Amino acid sequence: MAQKVLLAGPASKEVGESIAKKLGLPLLPYEIKVFPDGETRFRFDETVSGKSVFVVQSTYPPPDHNLFQLLLASHHLSQEGAKVHAIIPYLAYARQEKEFMPGEVVSLGVVSHLLRSAGVSRVTTVDIHSADGLSLFAIPIYSVSAIPTLVEYVRKNFKLNRPAVVAPDFGASKRSEAFASLLQAMFVQLSKKRDKVTGQVKVESSKLDVEGRDVLIVDDIISTGGTVRAAAVILREAGASRIIAVCSHPLLVGDAAEKLASAGIKEIIGTNTVPSKVIKVDVTEPIAAHLRTLAD
Ligand code: R5P
Repeated sequence: MAQKVLLAGPASKEVGESIAKKLGLPLLPYEIKVFPDGETRFRFDETVSGKSVFVVQSTYPPPDHNLFQLLLASHHLSQEGAKVHAIIPYLAYARQEKEFMPGEVVSLGVVSHLLRSAGVSRVTTVDIHSADGLSLFAIPIYSVSAIPTLVEYVRKNFKLNRPAVVAPDFGASKRSEAFASLLQAMFVQLSKKRDKVTGQVKVESSKLDVEGRDVLIVDDIISTGGTVRAAAVILREAGASRIIAVCSHPLLVGDAAEKLASAGIKEIIGTNTVPSKVIKVDVTEPIAAHLRTLAD
């Protein structure tokens, strides 16, 4: 079996080191310099020929920068004869897994192509936006679920009154339904319409039985906060008591956190797939558990 090492990429130092520790793997040392113009130079001293390298690098904002660093490192290591497995806790561009409007670039397809061209032979990510995105990869890809760990956190840290778990749109259904079932809570489906040009979000529901309930809005990503905010507004109107937002990837760009607070969201719970002030859940254990199941 090939010797395994792990590269904790510059965007995922702590997460990478934590996975390495859990798997008992040595870290691959490297030097890195980011020049004033934003370009990155890597330098590797150790020989990796014949080794299996886990390259851990999340592609949160700035996505292109973090993705390109992943490509640079992966390309070098594969050229040196290593087998490269990219661990990408937050996979940028996963929301553009198809052409929503004619002429749109299927960005995730491009990401998949680039990773493969850079010599990546396998990918592991966390809660990919849509399972449809997996089919764009010609190399094996697996999406680890953070849902059980998020549910465990909620169970341990909240005393919930008649909880309801809400999917703010149909894309969130499977994830939120799984969350509701693990938490043994009522499941509520909302419907979201996003203006494809302006990005404006409108969330609707015909009948909402959330009066006096503690509500958890569960989504994969909170970016601008528009989706969760719109859901919170109608849940509040329907008489929900405490509203908590739960997500795997708390991007929280700009004033998203303030926007959610002003909509009456008491707490935001996220994971460490991206750096954030709302990290409550560590995904390194479920990632390590998945990696342990792989033969090499
Ligand atoms: C899209 O369908 C995703 O699941 C999220 O709902 C969306 O990306 C959240 O974005 P924002 O916070 O900007 O509304």
